Amino acid sequence: MNTDSIWKEESGKCPVFKPLERDIETEVLIIGGGITGLTIATLLNDAGIHSVLAEASHIGNGTTGMSSCHLTTQIDAQYRKIYKDFGEKITELVARSRAEGIDFIEQLIKSKNINCDFKRVTGYQYADRPEQIADLEAEYRYAGYVDLPVELTDNIDLPFSVTKALKFGNQAVFNAQSFINGLAEHLVNSKCEIFENTRVTDIREDRGIFTVSANGKIIRALKVVMATHIPLFFNVLQTLAFPYMSYVIAATIEGDTPGNLYWDMDEPYHYIRSTEFNGRKYLIVGGADHKVGHVEETSKRFTELESYARKKFNVKSVDFKWSAEFFESADGLPFIGESPFSKKLYVATGFAGDGLVYGPLAALIISDLIQGKTNRYYDAYDSTRITIAASMADFFKENIDNVRSLVADKFGNVSEQSPDHLEPGEGKILNLNGEKVAVAKDANGEVYAVSPVCTHLKCNVHYNNAEQTWDCPCHGSRFSIDGSVVYGPAVDPLEKKEIVVVAEDKK
Ligand code: FES
Repeated sequence: MNTDSIWKEESGKCPVFKPLERDIETEVLIIGGGITGLTIATLLNDAGIHSVLAEASHIGNGTTGMSSCHLTTQIDAQYRKIYKDFGEKITELVARSRAEGIDFIEQLIKSKNINCDFKRVTGYQYADRPEQIADLEAEYRYAGYVDLPVELTDNIDLPFSVTKALKFGNQAVFNAQSFINGLAEHLVNSKCEIFENTRVTDIREDRGIFTVSANGKIIRALKVVMATHIPLFFNVLQTLAFPYMSYVIAATIEGDTPGNLYWDMDEPYHYIRSTEFNGRKYLIVGGADHKVGHVEETSKRFTELESYARKKFNVKSVDFKWSAEFFESADGLPFIGESPFSKKLYVATGFAGDGLVYGPLAALIISDLIQGKTNRYYDAYDSTRITIAASMADFFKENIDNVRSLVADKFGNVSEQSPDHLEPGEGKILNLNGEKVAVAKDANGEVYAVSPVCTHLKCNVHYNNAEQTWDCPCHGSRFSIDGSVVYGPAVDPLEKKEIVVVAEDKK
């Protein structure tokens, strides 16, 4: 199955940067070449500050290039929850910062002259069933309290009827991969040196200087930004932000694709939007989220989305399918700012499904902090906050879930089956001579065997059959079937294992 996003082709238009091949010194090291890292690099460059950006793979290869490219003022956690947990002042800051975050992206696109199909649209959150109306009306009241331009309506430009909808003005869509391609182009020959295929594997701080290892070389920096979705290595924020996968399909339909943004009130919710690509119009349907590593038959999530799309639209063909990882915080707001461990180490995590808005917003906040300026939105996202009441339920649920998964994986029985029985695309934890081994067969029939023990904090990985990766249920690290790291917080590959596989013709 092709699991590249519809925007992925654009990544071929991004400038290519060499891996780090020498020791280097800089004021600021930015780890991660997604929308957060590239926007911070741009702001620091514009302020005349030297930085180095280290991307483990390629620019946009993580969640940015696999998103669904919409920008909304509505938040995943819902304003009624944030208002009740944080009060009016913080909720106002969240609402205003999100609107200004979208404005900031628009201004950056104009000032850097980036061609990325940015367009203002309307957003509709809709109730499908009468029992959802009370929550929709509550959301209308709370969003209204903080002056968001919202209205309740029965009119929505979808080809199926909905019970009621909440209309959000001044939302937007764009091509996030083209956006960061444009930022990267502006950073060629600038005060920011970008290195791709440069994985950070160690970081130490001593007397105000960071010594960072990557590709066997050393980067010395006065400040470090982890623009990696979740901080790498061990960080207390990994117990407060939890990894989820989300799924997207792009389909061709009979008739016109809808022109705005739409999302329902299911749990997890579905969203609908449209895009044009290579002269063809596509309907995009996303959702079907689940916690990373807790579902193995992940390809069924695409089937679920397809049947949702077919119920609502006259679908001719499903042409693209992809998924992406994101992190949800325990209290519903991201953590942006100084790491709880160091005032010179900056983090940005817990964006939920709103990373394209929060990424540039985090860049604004962190670049201000680096320059010693105050940022009026810092209080809303303070990365050192402790919100016991707002966090407690999710904190316990998610962390107990991790412990349960760890115990079940360590002591549970696994298949005694031989690796010869695996089908192409299949992966299993097998008991081979008394040892648990993660064995997977690629599409060409080649078998890979690795240790199932995650190199982050030793939970056992689970197979993800849609992406053909080994995913860790504890903090979201993901590994390809040969064991190499796809997503952190782990930085080291799964240990390779030698196993005997009987060739097909000898069976
Ligand atoms: Fe933490 Fe695997 S990601 S143990």
